[in-house]
Amino acid sequence: MGFHTFDADRADGLEDPERFRYCSREELLQELPARPERLLDLGSGTGFYTSELAPYAETVYAVDLQPAMHARHRDNGVAENVRLVTAEAGRLPLSEGAIDAAVSTMTFHETATTEALADLARVLEGPFVVVDWSGTGEGAAGPPTEERFAVSEARGLLESAGFEISRGVERPETFLLVAAA
Ligand SMILES: C[S@@+](CC[C@H](N)C(=O)[O-])C[C@H]1O[C@@H](n2cnc3c(N)ncnc32)[C@H](O)[C@@H]1O
Repeated sequence: MGFHTFDADRADGLEDPERFRYCSREELLQELPARPERLLDLGSGTGFYTSELAPYAETVYAVDLQPAMHARHRDNGVAENVRLVTAEAGRLPLSEGAIDAAVSTMTFHETATTEALADLARVLEGPFVVVDWSGTGEGAAGPPTEERFAVSEARGLLESAGFEISRGVERPETFLLVAAA
């Protein structure tokens, strides 16, 4: 596992629509295939982005380590095509090639190890879209900058787990990476 896991007692902060300043539904959709059959959201939290993406996929697997986060997601309402999966990155209870596309928002710094990414590569047939707080950011929002990866570091981790990178950009506070296994 990467840096410390997001505190479920602070889950309210994940519901703030201001978050779309740092990552929008549109930029995630732009990098995904049209209507993937099986989309995985790694570190789905309260479902803030899962619920945004659910209308644009057949089935979404919302994977999170913390049952308390899934409880919050349930309180918010779980879309009919979303399956809540309580599992740790690196131990995905899914078979090889079971997923067509994956996203992970503001979570890479908590989950990314070579082992966890290699396990994602095992189940993934298509793109992996990552948006996370960047180590080159100003720290005006998000976790402390020393707990974050720069896009170059994230790229290196993904490559060491067998991913090929098709896009990697730094923005003022976040990075976006698109990779395929
Ligand atoms: C900062 S929150 C972001 C949640 C959501 N992606 C969003 O943008 O609203 C990070 C989430 O990742 C989950 N998480 C952290 N480490 C994890 C791991 N190793 N495996 C699965 N989920 C993890 C946490 O429980 C938390 O819900």
